[in-house]
Amino acid sequence: MKENFDSLSLKIFEVFDKDWAILVSGSEKPNPMTISWGGMGTLYNKPVVTVYVRPTRYSFGLMMKHNEFTVSFLPKKMKKVYDICGSLSGKDCDKWDAAKITPAKSSVIKTPFVEGAKLAFECKTIARAPFKKESFLTKEIFNFYEKEDFHTIFIGEVVKTHKS
Ligand SMILES: Cc1cc2nc3c(=O)[nH]c(=O)nc-3n(C[C@H](O)[C@H](O)[C@H](O)COP(=O)(O)O)c2cc1C
Repeated sequence: MKENFDSLSLKIFEVFDKDWAILVSGSEKPNPMTISWGGMGTLYNKPVVTVYVRPTRYSFGLMMKHNEFTVSFLPKKMKKVYDICGSLSGKDCDKWDAAKITPAKSSVIKTPFVEGAKLAFECKTIARAPFKKESFLTKEIFNFYEKEDFHTIFIGEVVKTHKS
């Protein structure tokens, strides 16, 4: 069934940048990672969420292997989760334990979202593309890439929305 977004009212320039979110990738051993770069919109006539992941993240391998992900927006009382999932790496520890969070079962995909999220999207990756040096038209952007670890863009079709 087509998702209905009528009840969503979001400040699109704040929802990622100021409030942050948790990107979960992987299904057997899913991994939560804090993100603050992303977007929502329409592409190929589908509702999409776009996220940007550096190849140096443990999450990157999971995103490349499993063509699905979830994005969870947490309530203010869970702010600490963002600090933990944005500083520790899933290659060294289990961040669900470290951040004291629980994976919630998704309805359509295998990757879980974060229990207690005020809003979460289940997404199927429909396209991905790595940025390359020649992708950038402003010098200023290179300040973000001292190690040239350019992000890969992952575009996910929203197949289910959870709102509490
Ligand atoms: C507020 C905040 C926002 C972040 N946004 C992103 C992002 O959009 N993309 C990204 O690749 N890393 C981002 N990071 C960095 C990762 O969350 C961080 O490197 C994390 O430890 C990687 O986890 P992983 O190795 O388990 O994948 C952000 C970190 C913080 C604290």
